[in-house]
Amino acid sequence: MLSKKATCNSHGQDSSYFLGWQEYEKNPYDPITNPSGIIQMGLAENQLSFDLLESWLASHPDAIALKQDGAFLFRELALFQDYHGLPAFKNALTEFMSEIRGNKVGFDPDKLVLTAGATSANETLMFCLADPGDAFLLPTPYYPGFDRDLKWRTGAEIVPIHCSSANGFKITKPALEDAYQRAAKRKLRVKGVLITNPSNPLGTTMTRDELDILINFIASQNIHLISDEIYSGTVFDFPGFISVKEVIKGRDDVSDKVHIVCSLSKDLGLPGFRVGAIYSNNNGVIAAATKMSSFGLISSQTQYLLSVMLSDKEFTRKYIAENKRRLAKRQQMLINGLEDAGIGCLNSNAGLFCWVDMRHLLKSKTFEGEMELWKKILYEVGLNISPGASCHCQEPGWFRVCFSNMSEDTLNLAMQRLKSFVDSGRHRTARSSNSMPFFAKWVRRLSPSERKSER
Ligand SMILES: Cc1ncc(COP(=O)(O)O)c(C=O)c1O
Repeated sequence: MLSKKATCNSHGQDSSYFLGWQEYEKNPYDPITNPSGIIQMGLAENQLSFDLLESWLASHPDAIALKQDGAFLFRELALFQDYHGLPAFKNALTEFMSEIRGNKVGFDPDKLVLTAGATSANETLMFCLADPGDAFLLPTPYYPGFDRDLKWRTGAEIVPIHCSSANGFKITKPALEDAYQRAAKRKLRVKGVLITNPSNPLGTTMTRDELDILINFIASQNIHLISDEIYSGTVFDFPGFISVKEVIKGRDDVSDKVHIVCSLSKDLGLPGFRVGAIYSNNNGVIAAATKMSSFGLISSQTQYLLSVMLSDKEFTRKYIAENKRRLAKRQQMLINGLEDAGIGCLNSNAGLFCWVDMRHLLKSKTFEGEMELWKKILYEVGLNISPGASCHCQEPGWFRVCFSNMSEDTLNLAMQRLKSFVDSGRHRTARSSNSMPFFAKWVRRLSPSERKSER
């Protein structure tokens, strides 16, 4: 009855990433009405700075009422349907993008295409750059939604670039070349590499070295690079964020092959507003993506409201700084709670989650073992976290744990539950000492004095 597209399973909805959300929906934790329910730690939402947005809204009633200088803009906005977007919004958004990148790079509003979130931006780029059966290389672990966003409707393929805990999951030239060769063996034409910087799920920023390796690689293979920079405003610790835009300065050989994806879903915590964008120097991509954006426009009242908010530089500066301060505090709370339970995580400096090492809690060091532990943590401990397998991690035992979509009390409760689970031995695995030394330098948090000396 239905089309092949509607029934094919490359959407990825059977992934434990989405199954965990479904289980949470059936039994959501609430401190009063359901105190033993499941705590959602598998959702990368930033709910820490809503008060800042709300107080801005309270002091700017005209923006919500769609008024300018006392006069209604309602009819104008109700009729507005240009897929090029409101010029005032594109100006404000490009300035915000520069602000988030420490004003080290500028963005031209004419090279920006507005989309309904980064989801739509990534899919649109796939439609622009890949034919069905063409491949993009993605470093693992990667955001589970990419299977849906990049492959499902476009017919494009993802070939993983296998990264490992041995070097903190960094991208290397041999790993890139290996992925390229595996694609060639499968007779796939590689059209590009897609990275997420800062990384979801690692919570780390890419080093200049990694970015240089990537740029040299795409230059040598004459392919594209998509840099999903949706978490650019969440970098709260050393080392800072380097946008690919900085790295391609003066690189005329690649400037029309590098495309940046942005969104306000994480940086401003507005996933419901559906605001994203593609930024590219490639005129062909901009023209095609603009036409395609008809399928996922941002409503004009959203564009108007945000154009007023983002033009308020004093507000955006304060927001960015305060939001980072709160994220840093939250991340530290999670790290401390995990440490109390004898659990380490990858050193991170960005994002809304930590990449947590539970390898020592596995009954067997396999993905079956990981799934078994995940189910226990979901059903017995009442925490929904995302297993590494759902992020295509190659090593069993890693989990993504989110920290910014709940209150401090809920986070503390989650950590208490986890600690008592581990202390009780219910995972039925003796702690293995031999996995730590190899990995230790990546999981250890730097002390404040060590951090200073690294700066
Ligand atoms: C790396 C990455 N890209 C894209 C998205 C989708 O974001 P949006 O809500 O802007 O569509 C997410 C959401 O979690 C993400 O983590």
